[in-house]
Amino acid sequence: MIIKRANITDTDELFDLEKRSFSDDDWRLTKRVFRYHLKLDRFLIKAMENDAISGYALMLTRKHSARLYAICVDPLHIRRGIGAALLEEVIVRARRLDKRRLYLEVREKNLPAIALYEKFGFVKFGKLKGYYPRGQDGIKMILELKK
Ligand SMILES: CC(C)(COP(=O)(O)OP(=O)(O)OC[C@H]1O[C@@H](n2cnc3c(N)ncnc32)[C@H](O)[C@@H]1OP(=O)(O)O)[C@@H](O)C(=O)NCCC(=O)NCCS
Repeated sequence: MIIKRANITDTDELFDLEKRSFSDDDWRLTKRVFRYHLKLDRFLIKAMENDAISGYALMLTRKHSARLYAICVDPLHIRRGIGAALLEEVIVRARRLDKRRLYLEVREKNLPAIALYEKFGFVKFGKLKGYYPRGQDGIKMILELKK
């Protein structure tokens, strides 16, 4: 598996992956949103296996912080270290950009994702009541990059 920057020609494949990973009414990135971020050259990375995209992560930046906006692994390839490899790249990038912290939001019931984030040292720091579709609650998590 290799990790590379995604580009505008990956839009359709990224969206196909997104559709396979999230159920219809769960929050998901549209083709337009992928295109928007790719055009702006945001930090959108893809994991490649045999020339196919098996996962992606998108990080947005602010002055002093970065936000993991989305991370997703093909359901056929989960539990094989791809999510961890993508998250590691995001953290390395945020550190290189000298950001103080990396934060994210996640559905409270998304235990696989929360376990992944905790493995990398993220801690819960707030609740987002009814933030997700169907009134699902979310939580905010943060990783301090500078102590
Ligand atoms: C969350 C997600 C990205 C994890 O990707 P993954 O490639 O399966 O994760 P990895 O194989 O790299 O696992 C890394 C660690 O995460 C944790 N983890 C991942 N999936 C887990 C699960 N189902 N149960 C418990 N822990 C899990 C474990 O700590 C794991 O380390 P270990 O294998 O040594 O136990 C993947 O499940 C996914 O894409 N889910 C759907 C999209 C999503 O919910 N994204 C997050 C919100 S935007």
